[in-house]
Amino acid sequence: MSRERVLALLRERQGEYLSGEAMSKTLGISRAGVWKAIEGLRQEGYTISSAPNRGYCLEDAPDRLRVGELFGLLSDAKIGSQLACMDVIDSTNTECKRRAMDGAPEGLVVTAEEQTGGRGRRGRGFQSPRGKGLYLSALFRPNLEPAQVSDFTAWVAVAVCDGIEACCGLRPQIKWTNDIVVNGKKLVGILTELNIESETNALDYMVTGIGINVNHEPEDFSPEIRDMATSLSQILGRTVRRSELAAQVILALDRMYAAYPEDRAEYLAKYRADCVTTGHQVQLITPTARRQAFALEIDENFNLVVELYNGKKETICAGEVSVRGMYGYV
Ligand code: BTN
Repeated sequence: MSRERVLALLRERQGEYLSGEAMSKTLGISRAGVWKAIEGLRQEGYTISSAPNRGYCLEDAPDRLRVGELFGLLSDAKIGSQLACMDVIDSTNTECKRRAMDGAPEGLVVTAEEQTGGRGRRGRGFQSPRGKGLYLSALFRPNLEPAQVSDFTAWVAVAVCDGIEACCGLRPQIKWTNDIVVNGKKLVGILTELNIESETNALDYMVTGIGINVNHEPEDFSPEIRDMATSLSQILGRTVRRSELAAQVILALDRMYAAYPEDRAEYLAKYRADCVTTGHQVQLITPTARRQAFALEIDENFNLVVELYNGKKETICAGEVSVRGMYGYV
């Protein structure tokens, strides 16, 4: 943990020299401990110069998702107050759930450089190549009934758009219910899972997992999804620092959760403005049928109101059917 604290301090003052003594005092670690942490960071690829009587200066840092990178950016946010930055994990959602079962507090955020069993909705997988994406899960324990949180993922989608906009200056759109898209291609997937206490039917915890395609090249996606998927680097024409994106997404989740569920009007208005599904012909897909409809609006509960071919209106709730565009994914 000393290494993460030394890194956090160096990142906070990147480009400046900090004396070993000052670092040792600020962090409450011995001078030898500071030196060991610096050597460890250098071995990991951090460029840290040292000069007599001046100390150490962080010149360049690889883009790693780690506590030392995120810590200084999150200040006193509740979401992210506990961080578990893993190297390889089966799924950050699964890890977050394991920790929730062991009593982890609300606000825990789990990230990984790589997921070997990334999970998507409807039992699908989520491709999670190493070092390319942001794979992040957050733990919430709201004091609400399970039925009251059915719109939570829609709020998360707005928060993720906020986080991406804050980091990259680009506001993506939302394909109902919670895929985040740019130019008709998928950029982000969100998977929210609840645990309900079997005896009382009370909500025990919720884990929201967010997978953002950040620095993927087209060949990082498998051929089946290549035409439907995009990444921030493909859109922006430059790489994006995942730790900065992670911090902005976590801060946006924190703001969202502070507003949840009271500030519905604000998040509903943003959701409606971001949603690309409304105003278009869509296909409503269930395991047994495919129907055509026109997507009219998002109702007060973030449900999709559609008009069927016979002029009848129908309200579609999240999870009931999958909605696709007529000629493509969006
Ligand atoms: C979907 O599009 O179907 C949802 C994809 C959700 C992927 C994220 S990546 C972080 C978290 N861990 C997982 O295993 N899944 C979510």
